[in-house]
Amino acid sequence: MTDDQPPTSVAARRGTPPERPSGPGTPVRRPDPVGADLEPTAGRPTVERIHRVDRALRDRLLQIWTDVSNAGGWVGFVPPVTTGDVAPALDAALVRVHRGDDWLVVVRSGRRDAAATSGVAGFAFVAENDRLLSEHWRWVLRVQVHPEHQGEGLGVVLLDGIGRMADEFGLEMLYLTVRGGEGLEAFYARAGYREVARMPRAIRVAPGDDRDQVVLMHELRRPDDPAVGAGAA
Ligand SMILES: CC(C)(COP(=O)(O)OP(=O)(O)OC[C@H]1O[C@@H](n2cnc3c(N)ncnc32)[C@H](O)[C@@H]1OP(=O)(O)O)[C@@H](O)C(=O)NCCC(=O)NCCS
Repeated sequence: MTDDQPPTSVAARRGTPPERPSGPGTPVRRPDPVGADLEPTAGRPTVERIHRVDRALRDRLLQIWTDVSNAGGWVGFVPPVTTGDVAPALDAALVRVHRGDDWLVVVRSGRRDAAATSGVAGFAFVAENDRLLSEHWRWVLRVQVHPEHQGEGLGVVLLDGIGRMADEFGLEMLYLTVRGGEGLEAFYARAGYREVARMPRAIRVAPGDDRDQVVLMHELRRPDDPAVGAGAA
């Protein structure tokens, strides 16, 4: 296991009562989730939050990010890119993960032949909101599945796992942005995300190819949910 934290079962975590909210709008701070699933099981995709990334996993993440970019995926780079181009962005993101600010969530394919690369087929970050007054939600960033594994359902498994972790953590919403005109909204809709805002022509892919930036939200609970805010008292 690449994580230095012991896995905790979903069932066991669900049995732990959440801390009581301290006031209106205060997120329910539950124990830090370790993963949405347990040890990788051959034949079954699993999702796991990683707290500390070793060299082998860092190399795998770098290869995924580079290959996804070169396949035309929208994860922050314009192809062609090398691992050297992507490494600074990955390492900066991992600093935030190791500090505990952001979550790194990986999806493993469960395929036996994937063991050599720890089975990690895709990943995403869940970014701590650096703004005061916005602790009840987070950004989901860099959602990606290696091109060799796309279309196997792992993207939805990854997003569902992130949703469960965020819910158990007490978050109310997850936000992410996508580039319009790619059909990605339909993919995210499968995991409960819906469009809540659109910035016309905010992305200039190339001269003459402007795209909207679309903000999607996955609502996990509403402020009037009895588990959140003053209503719980
Ligand atoms: C987008 C991405 C994460 C989806 O992961 P995936 O594992 O291939 O997706 P899944 O196999 O779970 O697909 C689930 C459904 O979404 C659909 N879908 C997946 N990618 C899609 C896309 N780019 N556009 C439209 N629909 C898509 C699939 O067709 C599937 O629908 P179906 O079951 O009706 O066939 C992956 O294709 C990827 O890494 N793309 C490049 C990076 C990227 O663009 N990330 C998004 C940043 S906002």
